[in-house]
Amino acid sequence: MAEKLEIVVAADLDNGIGKDNSLPWRIPGDMKFFQSLTTGTTGEYKNAIIVGRKTWESIPEKRRPLKDRLNIILTRQTEINVPDGVLVCSSLESALEKLESIPHEHCYIIGGAQIYKEALQHPMLTTIHLTRILQEFDCDAHFPAIDDRFALAAVSDTMEENDIEYRFQRYEKKSAL
Ligand SMILES: NC(=O)c1ccc[n+]([C@@H]2O[C@H](COP(=O)([O-])OP(=O)(O)OC[C@H]3O[C@@H](n4cnc5c(N)ncnc54)[C@H](OP(=O)(O)O)[C@@H]3O)[C@@H](O)[C@H]2O)c1
Repeated sequence: MAEKLEIVVAADLDNGIGKDNSLPWRIPGDMKFFQSLTTGTTGEYKNAIIVGRKTWESIPEKRRPLKDRLNIILTRQTEINVPDGVLVCSSLESALEKLESIPHEHCYIIGGAQIYKEALQHPMLTTIHLTRILQEFDCDAHFPAIDDRFALAAVSDTMEENDIEYRFQRYEKKSAL
């Protein structure tokens, strides 16, 4: 059972994360990392992902729900059609309450900007998996600055794909270290 919340995000040097409800870059290596991190488990239970309604809609229909993960959409709408097995919650708190009775391993917050902003303030948040994209893109959605409650715990080598340099960074809440 998840006792902690983890954020997964890719952000450019200006903390830009999206434009016109989609990703401003195409980095297959980051998609692979996201897929592997959010799907991977060490036990018998799946991981949960929590996603804002706008980001959910930005995922191509044929790729959603994200397979082998418990998908939870946050929306304040009462009428929303979702595929079987997908949960809809009206607040982050109600999603976490629901998860208390559903066996799962990790719980990943996968965006977008509104959901990240709220999750960053949540006491259960321990970890931020940040793909830092070493350029600036034209973005209309941003990730908040990571403040000094968090410390950089791991960083990968710099990689390059499609002329875009990036590296994987992991931040941990200092009180959890
Ligand atoms: N680079 C990355 O790693 C990454 C990851 C994910 C997304 N993104 C980008 O982020 C952008 C989308 O972000 P966004 O901020 O516009 O949208 P979002 O956070 O994906 O979704 C916002 C919607 O979520 C619902 N919502 C928000 N807070 C809620 C709460 N506390 N309780 C219940 N429902 C809540 C509302 O849905 P209703 O309006 O239906 O009530 C709101 O309109 C896109 O550009 C996307 O590509 C980037």
